[in-house]
Amino acid sequence: MIHLKLNGQDISIDADPATPLLWAIRDEVGLTGTKFGCGIGMCGACTVHVGGRATRSCITPLSAVEGTEVTTIEGLHSENQHPIQIAWNDLRVPQCGYCQSGQIMQAAALLKDIPDPSDDDIDAVMTGNLCRCMTYPRIRSAVRQAAA
Ligand code: FES
Repeated sequence: MIHLKLNGQDISIDADPATPLLWAIRDEVGLTGTKFGCGIGMCGACTVHVGGRATRSCITPLSAVEGTEVTTIEGLHSENQHPIQIAWNDLRVPQCGYCQSGQIMQAAALLKDIPDPSDDDIDAVMTGNLCRCMTYPRIRSAVRQAAA
């Protein structure tokens, strides 16, 4: 049994401790906003926050989050009004949308670490989150807007 705080709620998950956090979140808890892309930590679609830091949930075993605080896209803001989410909506960032919860979680962590990021800062952090629709210019603009 693994105990953690998920989106502000204390929960216990009865699953193999080696289970990737991604599948525990999706299959055991039923929160499907966090997406599976590559499964090997290379695309960023599965990004959540663990202890406030952007984390690839597909390569994070459940055992690693015992006693920690995990936030998924569903818990980023109670009314989806995080500055990053507002900017994402204003600038209509998503195209197909599949990678976007991971993009948003990564961007939210970026702003927490660097409240006023330069374009180089944005590119350096966001480069690990892949988007097949090539929404990168809008992602960069939205992070800038959210930071303003
Ligand atoms: Fe986790 Fe690609 S699904 S990084």
